Amino acid sequence: MPSLNDATRGRILYGGDYNPEQWPEETWLEDVRLMKDAGVNSVTLGVFSWAKLEPRPGERDFGWLDRLMDLMHENGIGVVLATPTASPPPWMGHLHPDTLPVDQDGRTEWWGGRQHFSHSSATYRRYAAAVTEDLAARYGGHPALTMWHINNEYCTYDWSDEAAVRFRGWLQGRYGTLDALNEAWGTAFWSQGYGDWAQIHTPRHAHYLKNPTQVLDFKRFTSDMLLECYVAERDIVRRATPHLPVTTNFMPLWVGQDAWRWAEEEDVVSVDLYPDPRDPLGAQNGALVQDMTRSQARGPWMLMEQAAGPVNWRGVNHPKPRGLNRLWSLQAVARGADAVCYFQWRQSRQGAEKFHSGMVSHAGEEGRTYQEVKQLGAELARISAEVTGSHTANDIAVLHDWHAWWAGAQDGRPSTQVDYPDLLRAWHRALWEAHLTTDFAHPEHDLSAYKLVVVPQLYALTDAAIENLLAYVRDGGTLVSGFLTGVADEDDRVRAGGMDARLRELFGIRTLHEWWPLDADEHVECGGFRGTLWSEEIETSEEAEVEAAYKGGELDGLPAVLRKGRAWYLSTLPEPDAMRDLLARVAAGAGARPVLDALPAQVEAVRRGDLLFVLNHGRESVTVEVPGTHHDLLTGATVRGEVTLGRYGVAVLKP
Ligand code: GAL
Repeated sequence: MPSLNDATRGRILYGGDYNPEQWPEETWLEDVRLMKDAGVNSVTLGVFSWAKLEPRPGERDFGWLDRLMDLMHENGIGVVLATPTASPPPWMGHLHPDTLPVDQDGRTEWWGGRQHFSHSSATYRRYAAAVTEDLAARYGGHPALTMWHINNEYCTYDWSDEAAVRFRGWLQGRYGTLDALNEAWGTAFWSQGYGDWAQIHTPRHAHYLKNPTQVLDFKRFTSDMLLECYVAERDIVRRATPHLPVTTNFMPLWVGQDAWRWAEEEDVVSVDLYPDPRDPLGAQNGALVQDMTRSQARGPWMLMEQAAGPVNWRGVNHPKPRGLNRLWSLQAVARGADAVCYFQWRQSRQGAEKFHSGMVSHAGEEGRTYQEVKQLGAELARISAEVTGSHTANDIAVLHDWHAWWAGAQDGRPSTQVDYPDLLRAWHRALWEAHLTTDFAHPEHDLSAYKLVVVPQLYALTDAAIENLLAYVRDGGTLVSGFLTGVADEDDRVRAGGMDARLRELFGIRTLHEWWPLDADEHVECGGFRGTLWSEEIETSEEAEVEAAYKGGELDGLPAVLRKGRAWYLSTLPEPDAMRDLLARVAAGAGARPVLDALPAQVEAVRRGDLLFVLNHGRESVTVEVPGTHHDLLTGATVRGEVTLGRYGVAVLKP
């Protein structure tokens, strides 16, 4: 299978979405000059070009794209060519209303924005396949082409009649019989038993709480339908160019796609990442997405989109202070990115994103944004050869599963304060702040390479996943789990005892009497730290050791942190500092060490291959001890024993 290496060929890809159809052709020449000056070696063309490529049904206008492909090739810039299928032309919805998605209240999502396609529509799929065929036939042999980009951020839901038909087919594939479906969905509750497949719909607007397993299956179905759309287009371009990699860009930690499953179908895993420059946890949140994407890719990955300056979709859209774009780009490279790309090359002057930054902002060539983009391009070129293709093994894995997320995020649960992505962020942040680098893994993955596995929360687990966790601990691994783990099976049926018996035995929990969720502003004293969000009334078994107990209140003396051998259980969410200290202690016991000792709080050290990236996320300059002698690939300086990093400074050190 082709990989990202086939597109990078030893150079970090640098560039971004290029939408030249928004500009007169004279601007294209100016673009190319500026791209070359900035070290841009890759552009993504055609993401939203369907109306231009197919102005009327079946008609093709490729002339402009021919000229662009040639222009890019003449100037040594590779093209990631997109299929335009994320934004169908107005004629499609007008002629074929069945291509438009319908929301759960029965409202049509009209054209005039983007992503107004029904994944289930046979008509949409037919047009999408046809335009993809023609693009592949026309440009498959073009020398500028380096990679395919299918659609864009697949994310649509659809409750339409056509989606309902496909949903029934999907359910028949999963359950075989109506009896099995009724059993899995627990339809004995509230008189929901189905007597005919035709009675089953997508979970539309209902008077009160919907059947949770129906909703869970609808989420699975949606991810699978979108994946079918991706695979159909991927297979078309793959037939034309089996030697070129194919990708589609994920949104970070997006709820709608089981990205573990999707990543298996991609040659290159890519993601769009837009941390808020004002967010004090921006670097941590970015690191989480980067770790997750690298883990899905099982190696180098592509930062498909980031912003050189402000976005336009937050309430208040902050620009990036000087140096932050460079820092976050190099953070991505440290964590495995072999491509640093942006949305978009040139900031638009019209349309919904005219106030979203580009690599060339409205201020143009003289603007600070472009000047910083240019500096970064030169620096990436300097480190490319040493970086690309390299990979690092980590000692720690954070477990994450979309199905557990979907099942646990339903209405009618014990506390709406418990938010799955927030828990992932809290646990990952604790590791980040303890300077521990980590992978992500699926609960059914082989975990044997890890010294420590942490489970922020996996509400629903399959038997296979539970057995995997048991085997991991039995074979010498250290496991730390948060609350609400192992509560349900894959049908969202609560396990006997309120938590799987095998897991209770693993952690030393005899009886889980009650959950005591906490209010937003509430906390529980745990002797030395405060717990937030959640607490539990647990009766332990004899072998369990109570590492921290609740102090005062109803749960006085009961375990907040519990341990049986190498299996740890947290029945609350410790405040951030306590969480950091706890995970650091457990990691040290498991033999997982930070990359560097004695790091200042805002500095992270990340290994990639034999390179050591040291990144200062603070605004104050810091001196960091780095044992041995290194060569800084960015400055050319020799580093002996310590390196000083200015505000947002980075060193890329080679021993
Ligand atoms: C992404 C999208 C781009 C652009 C960008 C703005 O979600 O793929 O097309 O809209 O956001 O931040």
